Amino acid sequence: MKAVVIYESLWGNTAAVARAIAEGIGPEARAVSTGEATPQALDGADLVVAGAPLLGFRLPTEGMRESTRKEARPPDLSSPSMRSWLAAIPRGHARSAAFETRFRWSPGSAAGAIDKGLQAAGYARLAPPAKFLVQGKYGPLRDGELDRARAWGASLARAMQGVGGA
Ligand SMILES: Cc1cc2nc3c(=O)[nH]c(=O)nc-3n(C[C@H](O)[C@H](O)[C@H](O)COP(=O)(O)O)c2cc1C
Repeated sequence: MKAVVIYESLWGNTAAVARAIAEGIGPEARAVSTGEATPQALDGADLVVAGAPLLGFRLPTEGMRESTRKEARPPDLSSPSMRSWLAAIPRGHARSAAFETRFRWSPGSAAGAIDKGLQAAGYARLAPPAKFLVQGKYGPLRDGELDRARAWGASLARAMQGVGGA
């Protein structure tokens, strides 16, 4: 079972969660940025997992990403947005799951938009979207969230066995 975990991450929290999810899925899973996740990288994947931060109550827009240049902590904008990545993905038949990093209290959802985008491209949902929580504006992740991400990855691998994809 080949799995790819794709992330958008401006301050590193979503990237860390993506790596933990890939660890949980197993040795056949790889975490890659939206910049690295070319159509070739997805080729032959049985499971596509994608995640992004919740910024301004939404999956980051190009405008929001641009405005983060003014933040006290410089963002990493070297990879494309998850929005533009989703708009360009080739149609596929892999299973999918979406996640986001965010505060506990916030309204809005990034993972919901990713989930919709993946399904629109033909990637059927394996599991409901997941949320992983940060402590402050730029992180770090709350204690235990990386363990929870690993456990979520392992649960996705088990669900894949259930649908005959392992
Ligand atoms: C400018 C800015 C806006 C944010 N807006 C929200 C928000 O609307 N809701 C929320 O839950 N978290 C919000 N956060 C917290 C981020 O979602 C959180 O830090 C996330 O883990 C960042 O992911 P990254 O490190 O992968 O870029 C915001 C953070 C920043 C810096």
